[in-house]
Amino acid sequence: MKGIILAGGHGTRLYPLTRITSKQLLPIYDRPMIFYPLQVLLMAGIKEILIIVAPERAGDFLNLLGSGKNFGAKFTYEIQDKPEGIAQAFIIGADFIGDDSVALILGDNIFEDDLSETIRNFKKGGKIFIREVSDPERFGVVKLDKLGKPQRIIEKPKKFISSYAITGLYVFDNRVVKIAENLKPSKRGELEITDIQARYLKMGELTVHTIRGEWIDTGTFDSLLKASNWARRQAKSKASGRPI
Ligand code: G1P
Repeated sequence: MKGIILAGGHGTRLYPLTRITSKQLLPIYDRPMIFYPLQVLLMAGIKEILIIVAPERAGDFLNLLGSGKNFGAKFTYEIQDKPEGIAQAFIIGADFIGDDSVALILGDNIFEDDLSETIRNFKKGGKIFIREVSDPERFGVVKLDKLGKPQRIIEKPKKFISSYAITGLYVFDNRVVKIAENLKPSKRGELEITDIQARYLKMGELTVHTIRGEWIDTGTFDSLLKASNWARRQAKSKASGRPI
């Protein structure tokens, strides 16, 4: 399985912090933000990782992460010229993915749970990682039936349909590349990751995994602070190892 970290975009909601560097390089307590999603992929045993970055920030990522040798992995870089949606990662990464399956993680998502086994055990179809939240309108959400099977997927619902947010980690088999290439942009002009999930759902091949512990999408000042406070607690607790 290959890994992709999507770390593009301009992070305009975090101006002026992101006028000088990328959102995904901002400090979360004692580490750059991207270390956290990177750790999720590395712990799952993924050794080939594509890092997709905005053109203005490419040098910063290279300086920080380099070839990947220091992390026991091989990093490849691609530019996302314009932030035209998460699903674009599979088009930009088509050659890199080749014939493999792929785990995509957003460069601004922080997970406390250890998801390595679930990622390693993936075989076919699509897998999303969900968590109950109090503000589902901020996210893609999934409605589950009584047995916990996914029924419907909506990006940032205005009306409440479910409190289960779809987090920024997705595992798909190789068909995802073709599906992404055939997507049409949404009303907000983006290739939506939720449209890919909806396709796998329609094919009856989408599974959900409910995550435990903290999950933070660090898109706002408050969640950035929350993430730093969480990371500080983690760093101080001897029980939790911090591989990178
Ligand atoms: C994106 C996705 C959304 C997902 C979220 C997770 O939203 O579009 O489906 O729930 O990431 O962080 P964005 O952060 O781009 O608003």
